[in-house]
Amino acid sequence: MDERVFFDRLAPTWDANEILSTPDHVRHVLSHTGIKHGDSVLDLGTGTGVLLPAIAELTGNNGTITAVDYSTGMLDIAQSKFAHLTPRPKFMCLDFETETIPGEYDHIILYCVYPHLHTPVDTLKWLRGVNLSDGGTMTIAFPSDEKFINSIHRHKHSESDILPPASELAAWLRLNGLSAIVAESTHDNYIINISKTPC
Ligand SMILES: C[S@@+](CC[C@H](N)C(=O)[O-])C[C@H]1O[C@@H](n2cnc3c(N)ncnc32)[C@H](O)[C@@H]1O
Repeated sequence: MDERVFFDRLAPTWDANEILSTPDHVRHVLSHTGIKHGDSVLDLGTGTGVLLPAIAELTGNNGTITAVDYSTGMLDIAQSKFAHLTPRPKFMCLDFETETIPGEYDHIILYCVYPHLHTPVDTLKWLRGVNLSDGGTMTIAFPSDEKFINSIHRHKHSESDILPPASELAAWLRLNGLSAIVAESTHDNYIINISKTPC
């Protein structure tokens, strides 16, 4: 099944089934991103926008939020829920692995998205080069460990790759030229930060 269709079908029941991403849990994950007042944030694979209110709390009115997804089903729900958030998110429907997102951002977040990437290293390098500001941070995160994520994907028969333990993924990303470090790896949190140091 085409992945967009897969996520379009999941969209109407996504929020009801999403039990791990509570507001407090999401705030905890975001506390590792370094987002501060006035920052620009790119939320890739925003889905129904589970991160958006907590991102807005951190950026405040002077920040900006751009929320991207290729599933119109997911994005329609995110828009209907958060069109009036402050700062107002800019919603974009596109495939960030094959299409270029305009602009540079202080933070790029891929929350519960990494196993769905087809060319993860190329995509992360492309995003770092084109969309991440100097000194910015790109975060790969999940509200659980890899065992839980992999069990969900087996159950749903989604087209996704096995998620390795955070330390293994970070080491593999470093081998491929990305400066990745594990910010947290526990039963409840899987968080890797990739930095872009100024040349
Ligand atoms: C598992 S869901 C997570 C959604 C949201 N971040 C959350 O945690 O509730 C993955 C999301 O990423 C989107 N996605 C996956 N690959 C994508 C791509 N290449 N371009 C745009 N969106 C993508 C899917 O449509 C889906 O909404």
